[in-house]
Amino acid sequence: MDTLSIKPPLKWAGGKRWLIPHLKPIWEKHRNRRLVEPFCGGLAVTLGLMPGEALVNDINQHLINFFSWLQKGFSIEIELENNEELYYQHRKRFNHLLKHKKGNTKEAAELFYYLNRTGYNGLCRFNKKGFFNVPFGKYKKIKYQRDFTMYKYVFKNWVFSSQDFEELSLKRYDFIYADPPYDVDFTQYAEQGFTWDDQVRLARWLASHPGPSALSNQATPRVVELYLRFGFKLLFFDAPRRISCSGDRTPAKEVLALKNI
Ligand SMILES: C[S@@+](CC[C@H](N)C(=O)[O-])C[C@H]1O[C@@H](n2cnc3c(N)ncnc32)[C@H](O)[C@@H]1O
Repeated sequence: MDTLSIKPPLKWAGGKRWLIPHLKPIWEKHRNRRLVEPFCGGLAVTLGLMPGEALVNDINQHLINFFSWLQKGFSIEIELENNEELYYQHRKRFNHLLKHKKGNTKEAAELFYYLNRTGYNGLCRFNKKGFFNVPFGKYKKIKYQRDFTMYKYVFKNWVFSSQDFEELSLKRYDFIYADPPYDVDFTQYAEQGFTWDDQVRLARWLASHPGPSALSNQATPRVVELYLRFGFKLLFFDAPRRISCSGDRTPAKEVLALKNI
């Protein structure tokens, strides 16, 4: 099977599909290990590497609820249309489910998919009360998918969980690929932001793992210094994103930090 042809089913900020050609040769040497992805996001990397065994985690419970339903065999029954009125109706219904502690239902997973594809930039944002508040996306055309049966087979031997990365139970043998929120002030994917203290906590956690680990992040000077200090080997890439602060649109620098590889 051409593994790159299995597309991640959602839009997700910071997707690393572009990094797969660089990660694949590294992973190939370890592919009989379990792959642990503590910050799986839209799942671009696990789907790109196609491990036999995986522990796939993200702190975002709605995301993991959606993947857990795909694992059971999933098809969407609710109305899917790129229409502003329907969008706000579905958003209201999703928040109603959250309010009544029904965020883990199949209906919530269906609505989550619709809101992800139809809302502004595929964002996943919540207000202080915990309600989803992303506005309508105003896309010209959206190609919705209703049948997700194929993921049932792909996810067969993968375990999904939703917790802070440090709570995961690792085995000595695991290969970890960590793609945390970028080291920039404004990054806030989940309800709580990922602070510099969290970046340091992550580096320490990865460094203490006896098996192989790889981390990607924005190559800010303090991230580079942090991973060098913990003895990682660093590779640098031009990310497909551009930073335009000085008007010259230079490609953003990405670092891949490797240990025990
Ligand atoms: C850069 S995104 C990962 C993108 C992913 N590699 C992809 O290709 O789609 C970072 C993810 O980390 C998750 N996250 C934030 N804080 C976390 C934490 N403390 N533990 C686990 N996941 C966390 C966010 O919900 C977000 O989905």
